[in-house]
Amino acid sequence: MPFSWSSLVVSSLLFGVGTALSEAEAAAIAGSYAANIKVVKNPAYAIDVVEQIEVTTRSKVEAFIAKKVAAGTNNNCTLENAGVRREWADLRVDEREDYVRAVKCLMAMPARAPKDRFPGAISRWDDFVAYHMTHAAELHDNYHLFPAHKHFMWVLETALRNECGYKSWLPYMNYDRIARDLVADGTGATSPHFNGNSSSLGGTGDYDPLYTGVGSAQTRIPSGGGGGCIKAGHPFSEYNPFTNGTALNKRCLRRDLNKNAALGATADRVYKLMQSQDIDTFYNMLLTPPRNLSDPYNWGVHSAGHYINAVDPGGDPMTSPGDPVFHFHHAALDRLWWMWQLQDIDNRLYSVPLYGTVVPMNMDHGGDMGGMGGMSTGEQVEKRQRVTDPNKMVIDLEWLSDIKVPLLEAHDQLGGNRGQFCYIYV
Ligand SMILES: *[C@@H]1O[C@H](CO)[C@@H](O)[C@H](O)[C@H]1NC(C)=O
Ligand SMILES: *[C@@H]1O[C@H](CO)[C@@H](O)[C@H](O)[C@H]1NC(C)=O
Ligand SMILES: *[C@@H]1O[C@H](CO)[C@@H](O)[C@H](O)[C@H]1NC(C)=O
Ligand SMILES: *[C@@H]1O[C@H](CO)[C@@H](O)[C@H](O)[C@H]1NC(C)=O
Repeated sequence: MPFSWSSLVVSSLLFGVGTALSEAEAAAIAGSYAANIKVVKNPAYAIDVVEQIEVTTRSKVEAFIAKKVAAGTNNNCTLENAGVRREWADLRVDEREDYVRAVKCLMAMPARAPKDRFPGAISRWDDFVAYHMTHAAELHDNYHLFPAHKHFMWVLETALRNECGYKSWLPYMNYDRIARDLVADGTGATSPHFNGNSSSLGGTGDYDPLYTGVGSAQTRIPSGGGGGCIKAGHPFSEYNPFTNGTALNKRCLRRDLNKNAALGATADRVYKLMQSQDIDTFYNMLLTPPRNLSDPYNWGVHSAGHYINAVDPGGDPMTSPGDPVFHFHHAALDRLWWMWQLQDIDNRLYSVPLYGTVVPMNMDHGGDMGGMGGMSTGEQVEKRQRVTDPNKMVIDLEWLSDIKVPLLEAHDQLGGNRGQFCYIYV
């Protein structure tokens, strides 16, 4: 039996204020998905098995929101006003360029993080890195991995839109597309994500003989042939990531775009993850799948997604949000979690992992991937039982946001956070 906290959640948290609709009004909501959501898919890619789950989930999205609207608990979130997060390659080229522009805009705005703690944080972009860096252990424990990153990315999306005029919504990445597009040496000439042009996130880094890969001898993702600075002229080649925020330092964004990493998150693997019957399985399979020596790409989807753009800061568990690819990966995980919840929304919406078989992505125990949640090392890690009541937990992003979100409110992206979360993934 999956453990669910839903029965323990106080009703004020589950349901916001509002007026219940009549049955006729509720019925009118049905069919609203097709009427309101413009589905655009890049014809260069065949629809994969995970996207097929998304397609069959649309009626569930509709039913979920219709039920909330009928009960007056949707906090004004409807499919009419929901944001639509799309895969990068499904965005129009001008939308991609606008995203790159907006990220650069945040990178040029002054920081808000406390100067005394982070003299090296100079931009609004750095604010997010500084938060992640100082809260990495909590951000990845079994309570926070999903909801705290949901809030973190929503705050970033809001900053991009409100402070930098970005018109669309946060993009995500489909790992399967990356796995198909990248060639073995990490170059992605056919990749809208990484071909290096003005509507991409920049390409791989120059070859660096000192960069040999990531992981231990047993579970190693060898270098894809990059590791150095991303090439001059590519988006973000001018960006100066910080190491630890405590000092100003002049460095480049270093990357190794890695096909072998992406092969650990292909659609068939993500599909298997989506079959997890309870949140503990979902969480643990995501972070550390059981060891399988005959599987050359057994990294788990979380590690795989991070190491697609390994090195600095992308491969650093603390400062990884410095590389703009980070948000595409965590939005992708947010999408998978949301789709997984919707398969059995009554039982899954508020379920929190009870045990992590991996020690929470804690910098001391993160497994042999230097803390990315651990690759499958076969190591038996002690099961840790949750000790805190999730009903009492609040996500506080400190200098990033004045909005403190009760943990379980951040489980619901269609009306949670007092209606401020209102978006879907297509
Ligand atoms: C509710 O959503 C509608 C439609 O987008 C909008 O016009 C209205 O201002 C919203 N009301 C509140 C209280 O947010
Ligand atoms: C950049 O690449 C994308 C995807 O391959 C393509 O559609 C777009 O036209 C390219 N833009 C430029 C300026 O070359
Ligand atoms: C932070 O980074 C700077 C520059 O790279 C380095 O000199 C300093 O020792 C680092 N501080 C800590 C606490 O790691
Ligand atoms: C281990 O990996 C191999 C190769 O990918 C696969 O065929 C096999 O089903 C996996 N075993 C388990 C138990 O998942």
